[in-house]
Amino acid sequence: MKKLWSGRFKEKTSKIVEKYTESISFDKRLYKYDIEGSIAHAKMLGEQGIIPKKDADGIVKGLKEIYKEIEEGRFKFSEELEDIHMNIESALIKRIGDAGARLHTARSRNDQVALDMRLYLRAEVKEIISLLKDLEKILADIAEKNLSVIMPGYTHMQRAQPVLLSHHLMAYAQMFDRDRLRFEESLKRINVLPLGSCALAGTSLPIDRQYVAELLGFDAVSENSIDAVADRDFLIEFLSYSAIFMMHISRMAEELIIWSSEEFSFIDLSDAFTTGSSIMPQKKNPDVAELMRGKTGRIYGSLMSILTMMKGLPLSYNRDMQEDKEPVFDTVDTVKATLKILAEMLQNVRFNKVKMRISTDAAYSTATDIAEYLVRKGKPFRTAHEITGRIVRYCIDNNKGLSDLTIAEYKSFSDAITKDIYKLIAPAESVNAKRSSGGTSPEMVKEQIRRFRKKLK
Ligand code: ARG
Repeated sequence: MKKLWSGRFKEKTSKIVEKYTESISFDKRLYKYDIEGSIAHAKMLGEQGIIPKKDADGIVKGLKEIYKEIEEGRFKFSEELEDIHMNIESALIKRIGDAGARLHTARSRNDQVALDMRLYLRAEVKEIISLLKDLEKILADIAEKNLSVIMPGYTHMQRAQPVLLSHHLMAYAQMFDRDRLRFEESLKRINVLPLGSCALAGTSLPIDRQYVAELLGFDAVSENSIDAVADRDFLIEFLSYSAIFMMHISRMAEELIIWSSEEFSFIDLSDAFTTGSSIMPQKKNPDVAELMRGKTGRIYGSLMSILTMMKGLPLSYNRDMQEDKEPVFDTVDTVKATLKILAEMLQNVRFNKVKMRISTDAAYSTATDIAEYLVRKGKPFRTAHEITGRIVRYCIDNNKGLSDLTIAEYKSFSDAITKDIYKLIAPAESVNAKRSSGGTSPEMVKEQIRRFRKKLK
C-alpha cells in the first residue's frame, strides 16, 4: 500500500518499524470522530472556495460510505497505513480519486489527532457524567430507604460514634458528586477546536475556523496553533479526575469487602456479584469489589504514564504523544464499566441491620454524648472529657456497658449527672441529637438528601 507521505522516500519502511510505530490497532476506535471532523473540514474547504464545491460534496459522501463500511465491519484496516487518519484518507482517495486527495488541504495529522481526541473525550466524559448521576441517584435512594438503620461510625478503624447508615452512604454520594462536577467543569476545556492549527503554524489558505467550530459544536477556537497541537492537558486532566474518582471507588470497595467479612457481617453481597473458590466450597468472595480496588492502580498508572510521556517534550507535536491513547482508552473503559457495575451491585446489597445495631450497642460509642451532656450542665469540655473517660474506664474494669451503671455509680463521677443520662446514651438518641448542619440525625440526613437530589436535577 502506498504511504501518503511516500514522496520524499527512496526506501520502503521496514516491517518491524511499521509494527513499532503503528497506532491503528488501538486508534481505530476514533473512526467516528475522525470522519465527523473530516466532514466538517471538507465542508469548510468547499464553502471557502479552497477546493471545488463538488469535490467537497464528493468527500462528504465518500466519508459517509466509509463510516458505514466501518460500522458494518466491512472496512479493512491496514497496519501499513499507520493510523486511523491515513487509513480513512487512503480509502477515500481510493474511492473518489483526486477529490479525496484534496481533503488534507490546510490540515495536518497533528491538528487532526488533537481534534479526534477532543471529540472522543467530549462524548465519553458526557457519558461518564450521566453514569455518575445514575450512581448518585441510587445512593440517595438507598440512603432514603434506610434512614432508620444505625451503625457504628469509625475513625482509625475503631468504633467511634453511632451514625446513620444513610449518612455513611451519602458521604460516598458527596464524593461522587464532586467527581461529577469536576468532569463537568473539564468539558469547557475539552471543548476547544484545535483544527486549523495545521502542522503547528497555521496556514496561508483562507480557512474559516469559526465555521468548523460551529459544525462540530465547539465553544471556542484555540488561540495558539503551537499550543493546540502540543497540548494534552485535557487528557491529563481527565486522567487526574478519573484517578480521584477511582480512589473514591476503591475506598468504597474496601468497605464493601470488610463489611461482607464474617467478622463484620454488615452486608450480604448478592450471588451475582461474588464468586466462589475453586478449593473452599463454603466461600463467597467479593471479587468484584476487590477488582474495583485493584483497577484503581492502573488508572493511577495511566495518569503517571502520560504525565511522564509529556514531561520534557519540546514544542510542538512529537510522536511520543501517540502514547497518549491507550492509557486514555483504558481509563474510559475502566471508569465506565466500574460505574455501571457498582450501580447494579449496590442495588443488590442486603444490609444486616441487626448486626450493625449490635455492634453499635457493644461499643462505648455514646461516651462523647455524655461529655456533651456535662458541657450542657456547665462543665468545661476538657473536664467533661476527663470525667467521661473515667466512667468508661470504670465500665471496662467492671465489665459493664454505659447503660448498666446505676445512677449512684454515675453520681460518684459527677454530681451534675441525673437520671436523664440514660436517655441520651442510647444509640438512637445519640444519633437523633446530632442536629448540627451536616450532622447524622435523621432530620439532617433527610435535609442532606433533599438538597442532594435538587443538585442532581
Ligand atoms: N498517530 C499519530 C498520533 O497518534 C497521529 C499524528 C501523527 N503525526 C505525525 N506528524 N506523525 O499522535
